[in-house]
Amino acid sequence: MGGNTGRIDETAVGNRYGAWFTRGLRGIGMRYVFSRRGLWVINTPYRRILGAAAVTREDRVLDLGCGIGNILIALAEQIDFVRPAAGVDVSPDLIRIGHREIARAGLQDRIGLQVAPATRLPFEDGALDVVLTSHVLKHLDDEALLSCFREVARVLRPGGRFLLWEFDKSPRSALLFWSARLSGLPPPFQLRTSAEFSRVLRSTGFHRVVRFEPGFFLLPPVPRLALLATR
Ligand SMILES: C[S@@+](CC[C@H](N)C(=O)[O-])C[C@H]1O[C@@H](n2cnc3c(N)ncnc32)[C@H](O)[C@@H]1O
Repeated sequence: MGGNTGRIDETAVGNRYGAWFTRGLRGIGMRYVFSRRGLWVINTPYRRILGAAAVTREDRVLDLGCGIGNILIALAEQIDFVRPAAGVDVSPDLIRIGHREIARAGLQDRIGLQVAPATRLPFEDGALDVVLTSHVLKHLDDEALLSCFREVARVLRPGGRFLLWEFDKSPRSALLFWSARLSGLPPPFQLRTSAEFSRVLRSTGFHRVVRFEPGFFLLPPVPRLALLATR
């Protein structure tokens, strides 16, 4: 179970997302589902999940694989960050749409987005307090996942938090596998269990990894996992 298990090309995944978000009716649907207004669809319990990281206004936050910036917009509407929150995504198209969404929400001074892959984060060592990533890690093959977690450990200060959530690897995730076979949605992916993520987190410098219940998810009806790791 788990879709592709070979090598995954990060740029190609970004381009595929870009094509979906920019073309026709599917583009309109995707932009809604991944907007701040559409968070309830795929990220139903996101507020509860974010609560686990206890983000404060002093925290410098990065959303890794931020898409069109939905989670950062929702966060910045609740928390008056002292320093701008940051987002990176491998898709230039999604970052371009994200800039538009952020401007529409009037948050240009409070959120900064950049194009970057999960395996090369454009931040100084120890520059961040919190890194979040939602529904992104499945698009990394094993080598890229290791590079990504090393990068997250590098850019977090000691004691910094890494909060991640993703589809769980379970027989009940078969729906995702079949949707990929039939429609190409989502692009190449590889599912993992909490134990698999925890092992890689521990090997890359995270000393405490806590699993918590992400709560009920609406769509797609596929189990999720959520982890909070401390650097
Ligand atoms: C399912 S969307 C999730 C978007 C957002 N995190 C959310 O939960 O609403 C997956 C996102 O991951 C991005 N992505 C996939 N592979 C990536 C990589 N290697 N580096 C950075 N971003 C990546 C895609 O471009 C897309 O925006």
